[in-house]
Amino acid sequence: MADENRMWVLAERPDGPVDENTFRMESSPIPEIGDGEALVRVRVISIDPTNRMWIGEEPTYLPPVAIGEVMRGLGLGEVVESNNPSFPVGARVQGLTGWQDYAVISDEQPLMVVPDGVEADDATLLGALGMTGATAWFGMKEIGQPKEGETVVVSAAAGAVGSVAGQLAKAEGARVVGIAGGPEKCAWIVDQLGFDAAVDYKADDWHDQLKASTPDGIDVDFENVGGEIMEAVFGRLNINARVVLCGLISGYNETEPPPGPRTFGNLLVNRVKLQGFIILDYYPRFGEAVTGLSELAAEGKLETEETVVDGFDRLPEALNMLFAGENRGKLVVQIAD
Ligand SMILES: NC(=O)c1ccc[n+]([C@@H]2O[C@H](COP(=O)([O-])OP(=O)(O)OC[C@H]3O[C@@H](n4cnc5c(N)ncnc54)[C@H](OP(=O)(O)O)[C@@H]3O)[C@@H](O)[C@H]2O)c1
Repeated sequence: MADENRMWVLAERPDGPVDENTFRMESSPIPEIGDGEALVRVRVISIDPTNRMWIGEEPTYLPPVAIGEVMRGLGLGEVVESNNPSFPVGARVQGLTGWQDYAVISDEQPLMVVPDGVEADDATLLGALGMTGATAWFGMKEIGQPKEGETVVVSAAAGAVGSVAGQLAKAEGARVVGIAGGPEKCAWIVDQLGFDAAVDYKADDWHDQLKASTPDGIDVDFENVGGEIMEAVFGRLNINARVVLCGLISGYNETEPPPGPRTFGNLLVNRVKLQGFIILDYYPRFGEAVTGLSELAAEGKLETEETVVDGFDRLPEALNMLFAGENRGKLVVQIAD
């Protein structure tokens, strides 16, 4: 066991992408645990677009991280000391551990002990079989509800949530079109993940590609990006379409949100149901998603993919990778073996 706790704390709020002044590394003694608490040695930290939202000025679904506070983040690790039978020593848990080596946990926090029988490595347990997969699972199954033969469009389709969401819609028999940046990602989602078509939004003709790949319009939009991409998708929504409003990453690094979709009227005319959701609301039901996703993976119906960055020092740098599209599948930082 390391003899200190390294922490990345928020030093100042960024104006645009994070830079070398945004976070500061500090260290403290390994925390002591009290009654009902347990100590987790964090091994892998999930890098999520929402990390960028949490360090802005404005509250979102959680209050902003305070200046001087340990950066909030989802992590996975092993219980190394425990005064709580729900978290036995040796158990693998995931939850909001923060960007640090050790986290004190209790029943008060949204945490998941990895269910028995789920065999996967740490990065996958934070990715397709963790919070990311659960986001795709509940968003697609509860809000999108694709039916056989319907057309589903997923944006940020080669990313962590999008790559799983598209595969789940395929498993329901839908025609699935992914929107991603660049020919490599587009080829990957079609050739490896089984999407029916891909739209490269970095190509000049991407509007034409979207039209050609959705000849019958769009029944489900799993929206991860917002801005211009969402606007174009909204313009092709069918009667009774569903929009899973999962994320709007194109605006997270911007000081002004992108202009609203000029095609918004189509939601009204076509009686489209649009529902925002935050995965934290589903924490009590996580086991359902993890079990379902593991079964699909075991049957060969779900490809899991991670981009793993090595080293605690690289946490701030990793966050910018999401906005530059330098990840395929789930982006995590390995901080310990
Ligand atoms: N509602 C919830 O509870 C919940 C939970 C988890 C995640 N989310 C949301 O889900 C979305 C995806 O998150 P994730 O964790 O799976 O991240 P991710 O998709 O693995 O990574 C972000 C990807 O977004 C694309 N991207 C970045 N900037 C873009 C831009 N300006 N325009 C178009 N695409 C851009 C990049 O791919 P390209 O190379 O294709 O550009 C990048 O790889 C985010 O909006 C996130 O906030 C919501």
